[in-house]
Amino acid sequence: MDKEVTYRVGIPVMGVRGESLGRLEKVLLMESRHQVTALVVRSLDSMHILPLDRVTELNAAEIRTNVTPEELHGFPVFDPTQYEEVPPWFFPPGHHIELGALVTIKPLDVREQGEEDALTRRAFMGRSVAILAAAIGVSLLVPIGGYIMAAATTPVKDSWRDLGVKLQDLPMDEPVSHSFRAFSVSGWMRVPEERSVWLIRHSGVSDPQSEPEDKILGLDSPLELANSDPRLTVLSPICPHLGCEPQWHKGQKLFICPCHHSIYQLNGKRIGGPAPRPMDQLPVRIASDGSISVIYEQFAIGIAAKKRLA
Ligand code: FES
Repeated sequence: MDKEVTYRVGIPVMGVRGESLGRLEKVLLMESRHQVTALVVRSLDSMHILPLDRVTELNAAEIRTNVTPEELHGFPVFDPTQYEEVPPWFFPPGHHIELGALVTIKPLDVREQGEEDALTRRAFMGRSVAILAAAIGVSLLVPIGGYIMAAATTPVKDSWRDLGVKLQDLPMDEPVSHSFRAFSVSGWMRVPEERSVWLIRHSGVSDPQSEPEDKILGLDSPLELANSDPRLTVLSPICPHLGCEPQWHKGQKLFICPCHHSIYQLNGKRIGGPAPRPMDQLPVRIASDGSISVIYEQFAIGIAAKKRLA
C-alpha cells in the first residue's frame, strides 16, 4: 500500500469472498505519525483493528481484504481509550483523507501509562538504587562531558556566502531556486550540505500588495533589516508550518506548499493555509558587480515568531 491512498470513513470493507465485513471507522497511524498501520472496521457488534497488510485493494467505493469474517473477529478489538486523535494534516505523504470525514488516531504511549501501577515495592527499591548510581555517574561526567560537548554541539554562526550568481542574470518577478554547497561547522565536525534558497528579482513596480509581510508583522531581526535590498528577495525554501518545501506555481504566480497547502505570494507573503507566518526572508547583499551573497539561516517551524535556530 505504498501508492497514493485516500481513506473515506464509512465505505464498505469486503472480505476474501466479497462478503461485507463492516465499514471503515478510523485509520490508525504509528506514533511517529509517518505511517498508516491499520484500519478500524466497524462490524455489527464491535470494532476490530485490521492490519494494513491484509488490505488487497482500496478504491473510492470500497476496501477489499483477504480476511474472512471469522478472522476479523479474531483481530484485536479497538479500544478508543488507548488512542489519541491527531489532526488530519498529520497524515503521512501519499495518504489523504476526505476533509471532515475522517478521524485519525495514534497509539498513546502505553509505557508511561502503565508504569506507575506496575511498579512494585521491590521494583521501586531497585530503581531507586539504579537512579542513585546513575546520578553519581552523571555528576562525574558533567564537567568532563560538558567540556567536550560544548565544543561539539555549539553551532558556529553561519557567515556570508557568495552564491556565484549575479542579480542581472536573474529573470524579473520569477522566483529561481538556487542550490549551493555549504559546510555546516559544528564543534569538531565540518559537514558538507546541499542547501537552496529562492531568489526573486523584483521589477521595481510599486505594488502595495507586494509589501513583504515580514515587514508588516515586524518579524525581521536587525540582521535581515540591515541586509535587505528592494531589488531582490531571498526566501528560505522551508515552509514555516511544518518544514515542507513550497513550490512556485508559474500559472498562479504563487508559492504553494504541497503538504498542507499554505499559499504565499511572490515575496513570501502568506495568503492562505495553516502556516503561522510568511516564508522566511534571509539577509542578502548585492555587490557593485551584482554578485549576490546571503546568510543561510534556519528558523523554528510551527510558531508565529521568526525564531532563529542555532
Ligand atoms: S508544511 Fe504544512 S503547509 Fe507547508
